[in-house]
Order: sequence, then structure tokens, then C-alpha cells
Amino acid sequence: MTDFNILRSAIAEFLVTDLDAAREFYCSALGFLLIEETGSALYLGGLEERDKYSLILRKAEAPGLAAISFKVESERDLEALARLADNENLPCRWIDTGAQPGKGKALRLHDPGGIPLEFFCQIEQRDWYLQKFRHHRGARIMRIDHFNCMVRDVAQSHEWYTGKLGFHCSELTDTKENPPRPWAVWLHRKQNVHDIALMNGIGPRLHHVGFWASDRVSILDACDVLAACGFAKNIERGPGRHGISNAFFLYLRDPDGNRIEIYTGDYLITEWNRPPVRWDIDNPMRQTFWGHTPPKSWFDEAALVKNILTDEFMPTGEALLTHRPSYVI
Ligand SMILES: [Fe+2]
Repeated sequence: MTDFNILRSAIAEFLVTDLDAAREFYCSALGFLLIEETGSALYLGGLEERDKYSLILRKAEAPGLAAISFKVESERDLEALARLADNENLPCRWIDTGAQPGKGKALRLHDPGGIPLEFFCQIEQRDWYLQKFRHHRGARIMRIDHFNCMVRDVAQSHEWYTGKLGFHCSELTDTKENPPRPWAVWLHRKQNVHDIALMNGIGPRLHHVGFWASDRVSILDACDVLAACGFAKNIERGPGRHGISNAFFLYLRDPDGNRIEIYTGDYLITEWNRPPVRWDIDNPMRQTFWGHTPPKSWFDEAALVKNILTDEFMPTGEALLTHRPSYVI
């Protein structure tokens, strides 16, 4: 039990070098709603969301990730998380109410693996576009679903997220050692497979942000629209079905190389204490159920993340585990 309540993954803040190119990709091709625009940032949302936005694209000199945000239930939860960061000597700072459009005060901290996290509880509500069908286009992005991060020590991060933040593990990939060690874990607060996944790799880095589409046809339509808009080269992997999560997926690189996943069709989790589904590290079906091997870029490339105190990119280190699945070229 924790003395705070993290509700769900809520907002990602990407750094992009060209706001016009980003707008064309995310809004014109994929169908994100442009909710607010300043000279230095775009605030985007999905059709099903009522919170003001779920994706911030901030103009920067180099691409990467500023922070991934989780919504909590109350301001008391933010105070409790600040005490946790203090007790564990984790870098931490407050962001004032109104510093981000429509948003109450927020807390940023680094998890033990160096990933920049944000927690907030209040954000302006907006019109619901679920049935405003004339605004649906492209991939018809519905909502944010999850974050996927690469960290050097998955076991350490897994223990912190489950032991200190109250996340539950739905699925995991083990090494072949005796005893096995976690290679990748899928952790949730809301009632589907994950709010955050942690994968063994050079870290800290952000691998991708997952956004929910209403069905598989929306993902196929996204491929057609992307190609017709000149973004065929931005399709990195898929469409396909994951073994892990059972979800249908498509991985894309935005014009700056930041990676997103369009994701749909995983399953409802009704019991928090159900044992995780375990996968063999050398089973290619865990990544693509149909057996296709992901491209090398999917394994090797990920976004740098910002230091919340200095605004510099965090230095990265080699992964603790060195086993590479046998099917990776
Ligand atoms: Fe994902």
C-alpha cells in the first residue's frame, strides 16, 4: 500500500526541432486534435480524452523527452510523492500552477533509473470529441495509453515502481539464468496491461509513447493516410500483433525520430494480484505474435531524456544485462 494514488499515464512532453513538421505529422496525418498552440509548443489531445491535452510538442534544439506525466488523485498525493523523493534523495522540483496551460501544480522527479517523471492532479477539462465524427481523421487517436522506457537495471526499477509507487506487473520477460532476472516488465495502475513498460537497454532513454486507437481498422487506415501524406518512411514496424499484451500495434517515428506506437485491443485486468504472464526472452512471438522480427532500429534507437534540474540531456550507461535475443540480427 502507498499513501498516494497514481491514476494513470496522462501526458508525454516530446522535444521537436520543427513545430510545423510535427503539426503536419501528428495532426494532419494521425488525427490528433490541436488544442492549444504557442510560439514554442503545441498541445495535442485524443478524441476520447477530456483532460485538456495528452501530448506536448515543445520546440527545442534537439529531439528527446522532457518528461512523462502521471495523473494522481489529489494534491495530498503530490505532497506524499515529494516526501518519497526526499526520503530517497531523488532529484525533484515543483512546477507552479499555470506554468503549463490549464494545469495545476506539478511535481517532477527522476526515478532511480533516471527517467524524468511528472505527477499532477488538476488539469482543465475540454470538449469531448468522441462523437464529433466530423473531426475524426487519420488514425483517429483516442487517448494516451502508456510509456515504454529503456533502463540499465530493470530489476531495480521494477522493484521501485511496484514497491514504492504501487504499480502492478501484468507481464514480464525473464532471462534464462537461474534464478531468472527480469529483462522487461509491463506495469499498470489503470485496468489494462500497462501504464509504463521498462526494458533492459542503454538508459535512461524513452523508447516510445503508446496512443490508443479504437480498433485495428484505424491502424490500417493510419498506414494508408501516412503513406498518402508522404510519411511512409516514418512507419518503422508493423502493423502487427504483440504476443505480450495481445495488442495490435504500429510503430512510427515522428519527423524528429521520436517514436510513438498506435496501440489497440489489449485486455481488461480485474484483479491486481493476478500473477504476471511470463515470456521466454528467445521467443519472437512475445514481440510479434506472427513471428516477424522487429527492425534493428527498434532495438537500438531510443530518445534521450532531460535532467529535470539542469535541462541538459541525462548521460546514458550500458545495460546491466547483455543477453540479446537470438533472433536479433
Ligand atoms: Fe508500447
